Amino acid sequence: MHTGEEKIRWAEQYMPVLREIRERFIREQPLKGIVIGMALHVEAKTAVLTRTLAAGGAEVHITGCNPLSTQDDVAEALNDGNIHCYAKRACSHEEYYAGIDKVLDARPSITIDDGMDLIHHLHTGRRDILPGVLGGCEETTTGIHRLKSMAGEGKLEFPVVAVNDTPMKHFFDNVHGTGESALTAIMATTNNLIAGKHIVVAGYGYCGRGLATKARALGARVIVTEIDPRRALQAHFDGFEVMTIREAAPIGELFVTTTGNVGILKEPEFALMRDGAILCNAGHFNVEIDVEWLDTNADEIGRRDGIDSYTFGDRKIHVLAEGRLVNLAVPKGMGHPIEVMDLSFAVQALSTEYMVQHGKDLAPGVHDVPTEMDEEIARIKLASLGCTIDTLTPEQEEYMASWNVGT
Ligand code: NAI
Repeated sequence: MHTGEEKIRWAEQYMPVLREIRERFIREQPLKGIVIGMALHVEAKTAVLTRTLAAGGAEVHITGCNPLSTQDDVAEALNDGNIHCYAKRACSHEEYYAGIDKVLDARPSITIDDGMDLIHHLHTGRRDILPGVLGGCEETTTGIHRLKSMAGEGKLEFPVVAVNDTPMKHFFDNVHGTGESALTAIMATTNNLIAGKHIVVAGYGYCGRGLATKARALGARVIVTEIDPRRALQAHFDGFEVMTIREAAPIGELFVTTTGNVGILKEPEFALMRDGAILCNAGHFNVEIDVEWLDTNADEIGRRDGIDSYTFGDRKIHVLAEGRLVNLAVPKGMGHPIEVMDLSFAVQALSTEYMVQHGKDLAPGVHDVPTEMDEEIARIKLASLGCTIDTLTPEQEEYMASWNVGT
């Protein structure tokens, strides 16, 4: 069997929620006649989502959302029937946007983004397509930040569901998915031991908290840096050392940025780092580590298998995956574990159906995932695990709804 097909079938086996949604989609055909444009990390789990949408009757056009995260064999296997895939690994900036243009050439009425590049391009370079768009879905924190600023300026012209912001996504994907997969990718790329290592995690949001907790579980000494005093305090109470990035720079042996912000590790921090320090990023864009400065100023640069080594005098600093999100962009990066993506992509599949049904009635802007939909996904997953939960008794329902009961 084709290697891409084997990878897709392997993933499918561990995605019970999407499988159940797909069975219903096959019966009900809720996406019949709909053209969907997607820009996501093209690998096996995404392929299962893509096939689920196609099974619901859609014609799907998909490209990558990061030049280093596509798996070419999966992209090839996916390109079949009513699925058209344009993604290519290690593509140039021009090829990346050519892929987005090809998706938009199909004139999608629903967009599915991870980072908002598709929606951005649609609103700036391809405005002719706007009138036919019913709505979109956005996967990640950074994409939603961008969408909210766009909506704030009155520039977002259709409704978009904030998939990331629903509990069934960020409680699991950002925390457990990023936490486990970033560490797996770092270990597979560097062959380094985590136990005993000083690891600096920049940002203690959902991703940072997951990473810090899992690194500690492997025996690391974790330092957290933050700008939000509440998150910093939370990290302290969770038992981590908290300090500024400048203070952490000479201590860290491994640095992982998860802020979704720009310029976290720059020249002043590089100057303080110890020989052999390893730097990587788990945030969406490659803007957290100033790789451009390293590329311009190092005495010598060595590049191999996802590791760029920068020599400064008798010191070396190593950057993984060119500062792009490490869990997907290193050659051995497989992205989030399958079971986690089953949940995130179940949210995507149901949000797509929701947009098809309600997009024309929703105002332009960023919309929440309906709670019933989120709970439905949790119920399907719990059933697949054989877990049972309680339901409120009438007495409890009345108590919870009452404001009259005191001491
Ligand atoms: P979040 O908003 O929960 O956390 C970000 C944290 O970084 C916040 O606590 C914020 O205060 C902090 N921060 C901002 N600027 C900082 C600075 N200069 N120094 C230190 N801390 C700073 O966001 P979340 O969900 O944790 O996502 C973080 C990033 O990871 C986003 O870019 C998101 O798109 C991306 N992401 C990546 C995934 C992956 O597969 N690698 C999966 C999910 C999200």
